[in-house]
Amino acid sequence: MRASHRFVFGLLIFLAAGIGASRLLSRESLAAPAQKSSVAPATQSMVDRGRYLVENVAMCEECHTPRDANGDLDESRRLQGAPIWILPVHPNPNWGMNAPPLAGFGGYTDEQGQEILEKGVGPNGLAVRQPMHIYHMNHADAQAIIAYLRSLPGTYPH
Ligand code: HEC
Repeated sequence: MRASHRFVFGLLIFLAAGIGASRLLSRESLAAPAQKSSVAPATQSMVDRGRYLVENVAMCEECHTPRDANGDLDESRRLQGAPIWILPVHPNPNWGMNAPPLAGFGGYTDEQGQEILEKGVGPNGLAVRQPMHIYHMNHADAQAIIAYLRSLPGTYPH
């Protein structure tokens, strides 16, 4: 009885290891062509996609570009950081009053940028404060946005 139990147990481990290995292999074979198409030739198209997401989808400028006396976005200081002009309906002591500069993205590593855009967690390990959104972007979108922000002039300290 015992011996056959051991045999069954061994067989299960053998099978599990086999399934694990084949999963890994298939993941690798899936990842290889995807990497080829998204890394080498895609740099400019990543930047273009990032621009589209920043300007037309996520509207980062609404908060991260300062405004002129008329309340219009001051395009000469695009994405250079701005005081926040929206206030919460109910007082919130944890409200972000300043949107930091994004042009050049000099204040952040790629990993920090990804944490912010994919999980809403800042470099200090805390959730980014409202009114900044807690984005749950997919990895490709976050990478595209970071690539675009890095393509802009200006490396501002965080
Ligand atoms: C509604 C206003 C608003 C919009 C839109 C917005 N942000 Fe922010 N963002 C803020 C505020 C306010 C902060 C400061 C938050 C804080 O102090 O925790 C911030 C912080 C950040 C930070 C720094 C986070 C940290 O913890 O250091 C990054 C990076 C950032 N935003 C990128 C972006 C990007 C990229 C977009 C567009 C995809 C965007 N933001 C859209 C308001 C906004």
